[in-house]
Amino acid sequence: MSFRTLCVAAGVDGQSFPHGGKVSAFAVRSRNGGLNMELKPLQIGNLTVEYPIIQGGMGVGISRSHLAGAVSANGGLGIISTAQIGYDEPDFERNQEQANLHAIRKHLEQAKEIAGGRPVGVNIMVATKDYPSYVKAAVDAGADVIISGAGLPVRLPEYVGDSDCKIAPIVSSEKAASLMLRNWDKKYGRTADFLVIEGPEAGGHLGFKEEQLKHITTKEYEDEIKKIIETVRGYEEKYGKKIPVIIAGGIFDHEDICHALSIGADGVQIASRFVATDECDADEKYKQAYIDAKAEDVEIVMSPVGMPGRALKNAFVKLIEKKPLPVSRCFNCLEKCNPAKVPYCITKALINAVRGDIEHGLIFVGANVGRITKIVSVHDLMAELVGE
Ligand SMILES: Cc1cc2nc3c(=O)[nH]c(=O)nc-3n(C[C@H](O)[C@H](O)[C@H](O)COP(=O)(O)O)c2cc1C
Repeated sequence: MSFRTLCVAAGVDGQSFPHGGKVSAFAVRSRNGGLNMELKPLQIGNLTVEYPIIQGGMGVGISRSHLAGAVSANGGLGIISTAQIGYDEPDFERNQEQANLHAIRKHLEQAKEIAGGRPVGVNIMVATKDYPSYVKAAVDAGADVIISGAGLPVRLPEYVGDSDCKIAPIVSSEKAASLMLRNWDKKYGRTADFLVIEGPEAGGHLGFKEEQLKHITTKEYEDEIKKIIETVRGYEEKYGKKIPVIIAGGIFDHEDICHALSIGADGVQIASRFVATDECDADEKYKQAYIDAKAEDVEIVMSPVGMPGRALKNAFVKLIEKKPLPVSRCFNCLEKCNPAKVPYCITKALINAVRGDIEHGLIFVGANVGRITKIVSVHDLMAELVGE
């Protein structure tokens, strides 16, 4: 029996993991026992996604055309991360913005071809430099949805204009959800097409203070989710349209999905599990690091983005915990970054990782990475997640 199952069975879920995470915050195995339900399609306005499963955007380069295209082709909603997406383009060293703009179009076109006409989206972090031009490039290249977090995407409606591209903020608290929706309502007379709630077990950057991550319990976070859903329902009434709510962070299997739906969500966003797939765009060594990882190898690290992040405690993390790594050149990734002051260059660390230089790279992971044991095809993973 795993630590997680043991804790849930003993009714002590929500207690701290030794690595600073939590025992399955909200995505607990259902206590109704062996939940299995037929998943209904996710309807986002006029877009229909066969299963209510969104593959979370993963940068740098972890979810590009191959992974996102395969997820959409298999009935989920594949999401390309635009974070330094052009890292392997010939002009990246000279002009990151141009390389990224070119790569956004290229990867969206490729993913859409793989997906055979099904919707494909992008994830664009608010904290990135040149955010407006990446949003416009994604819209022009035909992104069906844009999901945006790592900051509040307050001006996103302005950047997508009157295109049919669906937009969703990522929030982690009711306060942020209220602020976002009120802002869009007042300033643009519009609301979100859907909304992603990212909980404390997610991988990558987290919308919580480091201190909060140590104390928040399952019950507290589920209550927060319910409050966010209530806020969203208010805007549904006002705008006379359905605003699907998607829950992310720590969702591992079909039962977790059923549990998320049972507490009022319309769908889930899953990222870490899609890393261990044949189609994931990262180097094989990156995927192997996921397979080898144990629960105790996971740690909360501070990122130059100014938010805590969940990552593997590898040689790189141990090094930056001891002393900062001077930044020798800047890749213009963040709106607010002072290369002279940050403990390391996040672009360099993430590019090393995606290329398979595991010991010199930052490997973001979700809290449940220790439960991933093998690399499978996206087709098989989707079949497992939908409960086939
Ligand atoms: C390797 C990795 C990279 C990520 N990169 C991004 C990103 O670029 N932008 C973003 O908004 N979220 C990012 N995330 C968060 C995911 O999109 C997702 O919401 C979260 O990891 C879900 O939790 P799970 O991994 O437990 O399923 C990343 C997560 C991982 C594991």
